Amino acid sequence: MTKPVQRQRIVALGALSAMCKATLRLYAEEGARIVVAGRGEDRLKALATDLEARGAHQVVTWDTDLTNCQDARAELARMTSAIGGLDSVLLFYGTLGDNAKAEKDMAEARSILHTNFTSAAEWCLAAADLIESQSHGSLVVGGSVAGDRGRQSNYIYGAAKGGLGLLVQGIAHRLVRCGGNAVVIKPGFVDTPMTASIAKGGPLWAKPEAVAPIIKRAATRHSPVVYAPGFWRWIMLVIRAVPTPVFHKTKL
Ligand SMILES: NC(=O)c1ccc[n+]([C@@H]2O[C@H](COP(=O)([O-])OP(=O)(O)OC[C@H]3O[C@@H](n4cnc5c(N)ncnc54)[C@H](OP(=O)(O)O)[C@@H]3O)[C@@H](O)[C@H]2O)c1
Repeated sequence: MTKPVQRQRIVALGALSAMCKATLRLYAEEGARIVVAGRGEDRLKALATDLEARGAHQVVTWDTDLTNCQDARAELARMTSAIGGLDSVLLFYGTLGDNAKAEKDMAEARSILHTNFTSAAEWCLAAADLIESQSHGSLVVGGSVAGDRGRQSNYIYGAAKGGLGLLVQGIAHRLVRCGGNAVVIKPGFVDTPMTASIAKGGPLWAKPEAVAPIIKRAATRHSPVVYAPGFWRWIMLVIRAVPTPVFHKTKL
């Protein structure tokens, strides 16, 4: 008798992010069922067409501002029922914002913190409840190496990502009992629209296609923090260890 196909059921929050798209393409090749949530029906439909052409069994578009959800639990339940259940939630929306502007303009600071922390935390808590209730599933969240040590150039974004990382680590601890999984991915420098204004080049920069397999693999491992690429673990170990008097002399 042939074994039934195990199709992964994925909810992608921030599906239009370059890293998330590259990861979804890997799931599509395995015939996954996917909710692609983000802003702009036309762009979501184009992504759905691309994923279906690569082998996705079903792609449901979900046009929404993810920072503006009134009830993340109910919305996530609707998303998962559209694809017949849930194996993984990927959360990869975010904004770098303008740190210098946010130092003077509370609306900008609030927006950075709300997008990257508060709203994301609500989705994470909703996902944790769902995973716990079904004793199965994974939550994979885009954090950042910027959350490992505060530095003058991007500490507001970094604070949001650092807080989100701690939240996800706590959820990972909580879900161990039920066999669920949560992981924060900490990318280093990745060549995506988010970093379009930054000069690129050199060995520290990675393409989204290079980090996508790391993100996909993380969903099945019980390691709550994953650097992408992995060498960033060692870079950040050194950066965290730099003594404060030395660190404060840098312009990072
Ligand atoms: N690229 C890097 O070097 C790097 C490094 C560390 C961490 N990260 C993190 O990795 C994640 C993925 O980023 P990326 O590099 O792939 O950048 P990206 O391609 O620019 O993706 C960011 C996505 O977030 C979406 N988004 C922002 N606010 C949203 C909202 N309110 N509702 C729905 N979608 C929203 C954007 O949608 P719109 O197109 O509609 O604005 C965009 O698709 C982010 O969390 C980022 O902070 C990136």
